[in-house]
Amino acid sequence: MELHIKGKAKLKGEVEISTSKNSILPILVASLLSDEETIINKVPIIKDVIIINEVLKQLGLKVEFINKQVIISGSPQNNNPSYELVRQMRASFLVMGPLLARRGKVRISLPGGCAIGTRPIDLHLKGLQALGAKIFLSSGDVVASARKLTGNHVYLDFPSVGATENIMMAAAVAEGTSYIENAALEPEITDLANFINSMGGKIAGAGTNVIRIRGVKKLLGTSYTPIPDRIEAGTYMVAAAATGGEITINNVIPEQVKAITAKLQESGTQIHENDNNIKIIGQDTIKPLYVKTLPYPGFPTDMQAQFMSYLSCAEGSSVITESVFENRFMHVQELLRMGAKIKAEGRTAVIKGCSELTGARVKATDLRAGAALLIAGMMARGTTVITESEHIDRGYENIVQKLTGLGAKIQKYN
Ligand code: UD1
Repeated sequence: MELHIKGKAKLKGEVEISTSKNSILPILVASLLSDEETIINKVPIIKDVIIINEVLKQLGLKVEFINKQVIISGSPQNNNPSYELVRQMRASFLVMGPLLARRGKVRISLPGGCAIGTRPIDLHLKGLQALGAKIFLSSGDVVASARKLTGNHVYLDFPSVGATENIMMAAAVAEGTSYIENAALEPEITDLANFINSMGGKIAGAGTNVIRIRGVKKLLGTSYTPIPDRIEAGTYMVAAAATGGEITINNVIPEQVKAITAKLQESGTQIHENDNNIKIIGQDTIKPLYVKTLPYPGFPTDMQAQFMSYLSCAEGSSVITESVFENRFMHVQELLRMGAKIKAEGRTAVIKGCSELTGARVKATDLRAGAALLIAGMMARGTTVITESEHIDRGYENIVQKLTGLGAKIQKYN
């Protein structure tokens, strides 16, 4: 798929943010923990949701996706999600903890590397081992078994989002109490804990660096609405600032996008926050920035690429340091094709602001890199063509409709 963008239109109007992709995925997976019906509301129609629903169906659950509601019932019948599905999405690995808890055994392909680096799973495995799992590798698969899971202390060397989620789900139905120390603080962790608690779980401290999970025998059914997508909101915030536009972003929790707001303000953008909306007033000039990605509440790695596009036209030199992933500068090559002046070495990129980007043919290498190129295309003179734009559809619901609704000139070609 391709997107053709005619640049230089200033965004204007209002946009509604969808429910968080990174909340929805673990929450759908956590439905494996209950035999009763779970209903998840306001689910975005995006590729990653479709894939995780397929994984759950393959594991034997009944999954219906109607009118933005996902209704899940049944219990897992199978321990072995197929390689074909798992390789399409890394987050599929999250089924490991719940499957181990429910079935006592699981075999799943190693997720392997992806466009943003090797992304190991050692912390997931270490946590599940601490709860009593025996784990070994066999022909590229992780095989884990446990007659029962027992609560324990798990210290994470790095506050990994996925490892915190995987361990929290397994511990929710383990015997006894578990503590995850140096847990991830991301709002999506709190959302998952709230979801599990709405099923009768006993999780306290989510959103702090020590999470206490008292295992329960059984989790019940529930109906739950996850939080809005802070990265989608951040992407529209940058798009408005980058085009010198003026937009209101509805359905956002301002507290959860603080790091993005702070950096945009530092670059000169005016921002007004209300309870659940944010108004962005872009300026004609962009001040250069120092940005370093960090775990929450630091600046999110999932916004790094979009800021790189934005800072390509700043008045002076900016520095971006990627400290979360080891290889997340794939968009640099593409931005260079549009006339950006960027030097990336290791985990640091220096961006020398140029007066203007020019349209070019570029490739979306991953979800956020694709979003960054969309922003660059909207800033640029002339037409930008983004190939492999299906990456963007993995995580942004109706992005073309939402942006054209704000006045952007974008067309999609299959
Ligand atoms: C999640 C998000 C992703 C986001 C990332 C960081 C979802 C579906 N995805 O990914 O959008 O970019 O958080 O905010 O929620 N690590 C290890 N060993 C492990 C696990 C992770 O070394 O066992 C390392 C990773 O290689 C990486 C860092 O920890 O360098 C952060 O990864 P992690 O927080 O686990 O990210 P994900 O959960 O994969």
